[in-house]
Amino acid sequence: MAVSPCILQRLRPNLPPLLLPPYHYSRSHTTLTASASQKHRPISPDLVALEYADLNLSHRVSPELGQVRIRQHVNPLSASFSAPIEVPDWSQVFRDPTLPLMVDIGSGSGRFLIWLAKRNLDSKNYLGLEIRQKLVKRAQFWVKELALDNVYFLFANATNSFKQLVSTYPGPLMLVSILCPDPHFKKRHHKRRVVQKPLVDSIMNSLVPGGQVFMQSDVLEVAVDMRNQFDSEANSLEHIDELDSTVLCDSDGWLLRNPMGIRTEREIHAEYEGAKIYRRMYQRHV
Ligand SMILES: C[S@@+](CC[C@H](N)C(=O)[O-])C[C@H]1O[C@@H](n2cnc3c(N)ncnc32)[C@H](O)[C@@H]1O
Repeated sequence: MAVSPCILQRLRPNLPPLLLPPYHYSRSHTTLTASASQKHRPISPDLVALEYADLNLSHRVSPELGQVRIRQHVNPLSASFSAPIEVPDWSQVFRDPTLPLMVDIGSGSGRFLIWLAKRNLDSKNYLGLEIRQKLVKRAQFWVKELALDNVYFLFANATNSFKQLVSTYPGPLMLVSILCPDPHFKKRHHKRRVVQKPLVDSIMNSLVPGGQVFMQSDVLEVAVDMRNQFDSEANSLEHIDELDSTVLCDSDGWLLRNPMGIRTEREIHAEYEGAKIYRRMYQRHV
């Protein structure tokens, strides 16, 4: 979708200053870089602001945290990310820690989860796990500004902290999302990808009957890698098109539509650049 800057300006006269540069994955460097070919096109951060306009975050950027920039993938296997997580006191974090929980692994800016949390104030809790501390700080700043008590962001390496976190949560784990995870293209870096067997096992051990897993990527090989791991849990999981005939997939079994009602930031950028998003949503047998 291409939206001209003047249309954007008319729709949202108070668009915030740009928070992130437009980016794409560079396979050779595995970094996110500004695309030269986009110099004269409407910039996709504006589309992010537009998609999340009703959160009104434009007026809620602290001078210290406003200019958070994405530069490079981190290596979740490095020693600096191996320390065990300190589990929060859930009753300090959520108003009602017995509500069903959604966990977003690699929550990025956090806008996606904040948007969902605002729509389900009394019925669900939302936990974002993110390995880049600046993003967590900014997301928590927004949570406080919006006075939300059903969403929380933790600086955490999901690879080694997911199990401990969800096993101590007092309520049921209803939904786990893994959305556009860092691709780590080089074969020798595949082990850095967030979806690995131990994480899948932890999800399967914690998800309640009827609980769901939603995964997506704009990188086919990453989506296939995740899909293979969850497809192999067929004894416990079904893909939702088998349970609901109104859910449509393409001939390869990828969901035709995003079932969440809102796109993530990476999804917005990727679709703007013309990429397809490969999505699957599984449900645990009741
Ligand atoms: C490409 S971004 C996608 C962000 C968001 N889900 C979206 O779709 O816009 C992937 C995010 O996952 C985070 N991440 C990567 N490995 C992680 C790990 N082991 N634990 C937690 N977060 C991780 C990265 O820092 C980054 O913010």
